[in-house]
Amino acid sequence: MDIIIKEAKPEDANKLIEYTKIVGAQTDNLSFGKEGIDGTVQEEKEFIKRINSDPKSVMYFAWKNEDIVGCANISGMKRRMSHRANFAVSVVKSEWGSGIGSALLEKCISFAKDNGIEIINLDTRSDNLRAISLYKKFGFVKIGRIPAFSKINCEYIDADLMYLDLREKINNRKIEAFERLETIRRENKKEIDF
Ligand SMILES: CC(C)(COP(=O)(O)OP(=O)(O)OC[C@H]1O[C@@H](n2cnc3c(N)ncnc32)[C@H](O)[C@@H]1OP(=O)(O)O)[C@@H](O)C(=O)NCCC(=O)NCCS
Repeated sequence: MDIIIKEAKPEDANKLIEYTKIVGAQTDNLSFGKEGIDGTVQEEKEFIKRINSDPKSVMYFAWKNEDIVGCANISGMKRRMSHRANFAVSVVKSEWGSGIGSALLEKCISFAKDNGIEIINLDTRSDNLRAISLYKKFGFVKIGRIPAFSKINCEYIDADLMYLDLREKINNRKIEAFERLETIRRENKKEIDF
């Protein structure tokens, strides 16, 4: 795959705005259409800076040559919900089915595990079968449905809520680390005993 995945940088703001206009025109599965996201270049720069300074948030871009062809982000929540984060992903239509969505999701899950995020939440149109099968592939489960979640050209569209519970995986990693430490301790003790 001639695709490189990198963390967003403030200087990518212009490309991000361009990207959202392209991807927004290609699908009705996002919260925006061909107008893209609202912000000016400066506002998007500030937005990326805020993400980069938040230890529980990240934005990845998939680059093909000089263009963004995919984007995913984890947005950490605050205070009593700081164990959770929201996830969103998109890929330009010409690249659908070539593994970019999976690669972006994998990076985001790995970031979440490394940064103490216990639960990842997302919402998706209930008829977005491609996205739903991508999420299921990575272990997300459906936990509910919100009727009339969005309204596009007078049509009300339901959304499925899905989540990925990382608590067991995080605990397993802690246990493995503890066991490794114990083994090292035991081996060091043996050396001392001799
Ligand atoms: C949903 C989206 C991000 C998937 O990205 P992608 O790069 O096409 O995903 P991948 O190529 O990694 O495919 C991932 C999985 O999707 C599923 N998938 C792929 N094509 C599919 C199809 N035609 N029908 C159903 N599921 C499909 C498969 O489970 C696939 O995994 P597999 O290849 O291991 O079998 C992309 O289609 C997209 O941006 N769509 C428009 C915006 C959107 O819907 N975003 C999500 C909002 S919730």
